[in-house]
Amino acid sequence: MTNESRDPIESLFKEDRLFPPPPAFNHNGGMSEDLYQQLIREADQDYEGFWARLARSEIDWLTPFTRTLNETKAPHYRWFEDGTLNVSANCLDRHIARSGDKAAIVFEGEPGDTRTISYSELLTEVCRFANALLAQGIKQGDRVVIYMPMVPEAVIAMQACARIGAIHSVVFGGFSSESLKGRIEDAEAVAVVTADGGHRGGRIIGLKAICDKVLDDCPSVRTVFVLRRAGNPISWREGRDVWWHDAVAGMSPHCQAATVSAEHPLFLLYTSGSTGRPKGIQHASAGYLLGAILTMRWVFDIREDDVYWCTADVGWITGHSYVAYGPLACGATMVMYEGAPTTPDAGRFWQICERHRVRIFYTAPTAIRALKKQGDEYPRRYNLDRLRLLGTVGEPINPEAWMWYHEVIGQKRCPIVDTWWQTETGAHMIAPIPGITATKPGSCTKALPGILADVVDSEGRSITKPQEGGYLVIRRPWPFMLRTIWGDPARYQETYWGRFQNRYYVSGDGARRDADGYFWVMGRVDDVLKVSGHRLGTMEIESVLVAHPLVAEAAVVGRPDEITGEAICAFIVTRGPRPSASEQARVTETLRQWIAEQIGAIAKPAEIRYADNLPKTRSGKIMRRLLRAVASGTTVEEDVSTLENPDIIKQLQGDAGR
Ligand code: PRX
Repeated sequence: MTNESRDPIESLFKEDRLFPPPPAFNHNGGMSEDLYQQLIREADQDYEGFWARLARSEIDWLTPFTRTLNETKAPHYRWFEDGTLNVSANCLDRHIARSGDKAAIVFEGEPGDTRTISYSELLTEVCRFANALLAQGIKQGDRVVIYMPMVPEAVIAMQACARIGAIHSVVFGGFSSESLKGRIEDAEAVAVVTADGGHRGGRIIGLKAICDKVLDDCPSVRTVFVLRRAGNPISWREGRDVWWHDAVAGMSPHCQAATVSAEHPLFLLYTSGSTGRPKGIQHASAGYLLGAILTMRWVFDIREDDVYWCTADVGWITGHSYVAYGPLACGATMVMYEGAPTTPDAGRFWQICERHRVRIFYTAPTAIRALKKQGDEYPRRYNLDRLRLLGTVGEPINPEAWMWYHEVIGQKRCPIVDTWWQTETGAHMIAPIPGITATKPGSCTKALPGILADVVDSEGRSITKPQEGGYLVIRRPWPFMLRTIWGDPARYQETYWGRFQNRYYVSGDGARRDADGYFWVMGRVDDVLKVSGHRLGTMEIESVLVAHPLVAEAAVVGRPDEITGEAICAFIVTRGPRPSASEQARVTETLRQWIAEQIGAIAKPAEIRYADNLPKTRSGKIMRRLLRAVASGTTVEEDVSTLENPDIIKQLQGDAGR
């Protein structure tokens, strides 16, 4: 399982369509061309002063900070460190006097049930659950795992943790019990918040039952809060399990927001990297909040009367910054939807947009491609005239999908903000300012004010030649960056700063800039895949595969896929003889099921191929580039003469066992 990194690929397509800001679009979120230029100049002239000024104006501090950036322990940067605040108070309490009755969350369940929660009601619910956490002995700094469907209580639980200074770690509901266990163990979580089940794709996903498979082996967990959502039967462990409704019954609707330091960890979010073990990305309180607020204003142009909808699940960073924190901190009204985009049919997103009068809509390219494929008749059934801004995130968007989004959904009226960022960056980094930046299909355009993005060569030199690919890096620390990897500062340093001797933050993406200085992100240069926008590590999948008794060796690569962006292709050497053609289907099903159990259904390979050996160099490295070519059916251009056994290429090419 040794590996070689992917070189930043020279991008082949050349997209030169330019879409000037639609004249009808007024950026009322406070941005103008002049202000934008001024922000860029300000950040350039006085970097720390720029962030300090914004942090003072956007955040309600309990104790104002006096130090902006502490670089003494670089790359463990600290921002605003002597200030104190509470993130939940910044999201809720500060709106109550003026907009307590305003809708904070407009929820729609997959079965069609709806619920509107005002800011005052949300604050009450958050306080009651925060008191329930306290009543169970959960303290500031304790870790709480949240494993929930996309229902308002997921946000309430996150906000309640923030309120008492507990550190949440949300685990996406699509991850398996084993993944959940790994995350609970790594964070030594004292409590889990879950639900009996959630609705997804017309089925009930029994989240509590998934928890039950592993919780007996997680001694750190003292309490399991269970929300009744789907009403499915569940099993129960007295003394550990508590119904959410019982836990909050009789709890006071008031809960003093804890005072925490600016650097207090707000949350951990586990994400896949290029090794077998997911890493707990740790974000701080104040800097993270600042990023979420500023980008809601700059990139989403959020206004008082907007209805905003980000379709991301709270299990991902997008569901943190742009569901659980950013919109609330800005006092916005947001839609939250529990289910699948195609339930009952491919019109569901557009129906929700019409029904709840959505004005700002943010989703992933994979969803756009999947819905585009279903045909224009679905969006045409609904009135989408209220939409005024569209966004995408998670992977490069291909120009065809961009054009469909622009023409059919945005009716050529709505700017599209293609936002590049990562779990680690906390908030948007490279993105257009709607109404100001002209857009190009497939480009995330330019770095936001204060973000010093660059493309560098393997020596770390800035690449100025247009269209030349290199490593996408950030030249200076920014307030909403990750602080460390939970429990593993050395891995943090090595992963993000090691490549160029601590000079830059290394994103792991390859990118190029065009003659206008626009960024074009070309995908990962490491062993991370983006499947339906979900981030998966090839090494992680490989280590699960080789743990199965049938498998001797495994290599996992991505291949392009029209809908999911990338699809997982696994190459397997079994123990004993290679399975015959008739046996392959059975082995494949066994292994796919194994991966679903160990990681989650999102990591199931689309294809598994079998060979007697894997192609390796004489030094024993798996030739991944060659495997990628085999997986995507392109010509193998590698020199295979050095292979131990050149015949296996034919075996791999000819022997696709789906
Ligand atoms: O490869 C980039 C891709 O998604 C990666 C980050 O994944 P994750 O941490 O799961 O966060 C996704 C949501 C922020 C990046 O390294 N990516 C994200 N946004 C874009 C993108 N690639 C191209 N264009 C984007 N707009």
